[in-house]
Amino acid sequence: MRLLVLGAGYIGAKLGELALGQGHEVVLADNWFATERSQLDGLAAAGARVETADIREDLGGLLTGRPDVVYLLAAQASRPLSERDPDYTEQTNVTGTRRVGSAVGQAGVPLLVFGSSLHVYGGGLTGDVGPETPYGPQSDLAHLSKIYGEQALAIEAARHGFGLAVMRLGIVYGPSPVEHDAAESQTVVDKFRRRAAVGDELPLDDGGRATIGVVHIEDAARILLEAKPGTENVAAETMTVAEVAAFARREKVCEPAAFTFASPFSYRHRVADYLGG
Ligand SMILES: NC(=O)c1ccc[n+]([C@@H]2O[C@H](COP(=O)([O-])OP(=O)(O)OC[C@H]3O[C@@H](n4cnc5c(N)ncnc54)[C@H](O)[C@@H]3O)[C@@H](O)[C@H]2O)c1
Repeated sequence: MRLLVLGAGYIGAKLGELALGQGHEVVLADNWFATERSQLDGLAAAGARVETADIREDLGGLLTGRPDVVYLLAAQASRPLSERDPDYTEQTNVTGTRRVGSAVGQAGVPLLVFGSSLHVYGGGLTGDVGPETPYGPQSDLAHLSKIYGEQALAIEAARHGFGLAVMRLGIVYGPSPVEHDAAESQTVVDKFRRRAAVGDELPLDDGGRATIGVVHIEDAARILLEAKPGTENVAAETMTVAEVAAFARREKVCEPAAFTFASPFSYRHRVADYLGG
């Protein structure tokens, strides 16, 4: 199959690596906002075509060969950066996302897979949280824009008749061909793993009560590669940040999370194994 990955960052690069390994034709496109082109050299050597493209603008020739699947993983994904640069965040995640949906529809691509987030549910959750759970209040533009993105792409999918897979990802952890050094681009599992390895403090805002869904990058990439139209959560486990810290410190795990992100997929990786707890 011919796959176009828009956003050759942490998740896009791992998806590209997996797809190449399965014999797919892979184009990785990015505007190099958070990723350096040279980080893709290994995947280019393995057969990926690496292109420069900005989703705020025309995608040019990227859709002319009509890929079988387009993965939309290009985004300004960082909460701190969304506070420092709200305009860029909106231009990419709002206008850019809608424009990709429109271009995919006009090109007759059969399937668009969108990298959304479990954050769309907001806070104060209980019980099983799944795609039928309503959207909740948001506290930053990087995550608020996921709700707009899901809805704008659904409008384009209905208008043009393409399949839309909305994949609401938990915090992704584990090694990828593209990893970011900037503190604001690192997520909690890998951040705690690195800090615990050198004996640094693990900062717990609000006592670590925040609850997150987590998924290893290998599981996330495999699930994205096999995505079908519909909306699903992509999270192997639901845990509090305090639990992640306990695993990283190899301590006894404290109080469990008050709710669970429901997900229909099978998962091969667990945080406890990754953090050695
Ligand atoms: N990593 C996670 O834990 C996680 C969790 C939930 C959701 N997500 C979502 O999954 C998607 C991919 O996340 P990631 O971790 O790979 O992030 P990432 O920052 O590593 O990758 C995003 C890529 O998009 C590129 N980009 C930014 N603006 C662009 C533009 N205007 N045009 C083209 N490319 C642009 C960046 O340079 C970067 O390479 C994002 O939408 C993110 O919100 C990620």
